Amino acid sequence: MEYGIQRPRRLRRTPALRALVSEFVLTKSDLIAPLFVSEPGTAKFDIPSLPGVSRIPLQDLVREVQDLYALGLRAVLLFPVIHKDKKDPLGKESAHANGLIQTAIAMVKEAVPDMVVMADVALDPFTSHGHDGIVSESGEILNDETVEALCLMSVTLAKSGVDLVAPSDMMDGRIIAIRKALDKAGFLNTGILAYSAKYASSFYGPFREAISSGARGLDKKTYQLSYSNAREALLEAKLDLSESADMIMVKPALCYLDIVAKLKAVSDVPVVAYHVSGEYAMLKAAVQNNWLDEKPAVLETLTSIKRAGADLIVTYYAKWAAENLF
Ligand code: PBG
Repeated sequence: MEYGIQRPRRLRRTPALRALVSEFVLTKSDLIAPLFVSEPGTAKFDIPSLPGVSRIPLQDLVREVQDLYALGLRAVLLFPVIHKDKKDPLGKESAHANGLIQTAIAMVKEAVPDMVVMADVALDPFTSHGHDGIVSESGEILNDETVEALCLMSVTLAKSGVDLVAPSDMMDGRIIAIRKALDKAGFLNTGILAYSAKYASSFYGPFREAISSGARGLDKKTYQLSYSNAREALLEAKLDLSESADMIMVKPALCYLDIVAKLKAVSDVPVVAYHVSGEYAMLKAAVQNNWLDEKPAVLETLTSIKRAGADLIVTYYAKWAAENLF
């Protein structure tokens, strides 16, 4: 061997040295726990394609959030599971002042005020067809009509005390429209987490089962991004930033780590990555078959999302990680 060569292995020699030189360390405060809230009086329902994740009936929600808080988690992202009799083509239930999600937010903020509560803004839990927007007779998703509905919904969520609304619909111009609607209603401090680069993905299947929002394979390609495109994600992010988004998000996470890195490079606000239902399901399935070891596989997965540039990670593994990884 040549004398004096660089030997990078020196710093990998012991656990203490490796810890000392770690560039990225996952912490509990990086994690956001998505929660599915079902109508009061319903029973807890374990979602078959998301092992370990359940629909939580409204009456049990506060206890679950208290558990998460006790485990050290400080952020939840709420999704409603709406009874099918309340769904219609326009998703009108979305802006009901005392609707399921509005009630859920108010209960959580009252019981655990220190928990950061975010709520998804989109029409799909409320529409009979399962689309995120209002559909014309010819089958077109109507952008501006949908944005109006999202503004109404956002104001009701703000009234209930939500910390950040999280529009996941991918309509054009919705961030500035929601910002103006919130400001006009006096909610200057309610933030917006924009799902900026949300791709039309096959990895949302289990989520659609979780909220029973219709066909698994529903085609959302006229509003969600194509996985063939990267520059378009930058365009979306730039628009959302110029429209005053407080945080931006990339979704899904794992097939899109390059997009996370690209957005991080241009964003002055926190970048969030959503480790989505199908990505969770794949990992769980392999673990359940004893094909992967859960702890190291989850730690590696979540750390890699952080390394790509995510400041925060939405993951169905949040509670499990808080219990098992730190
Ligand atoms: C829809 C929405 C979806 C997810 C979050 N919000 C699904 C979709 O676009 O069909 C998916 C989340 C996941 O798969 O975990 N507004």
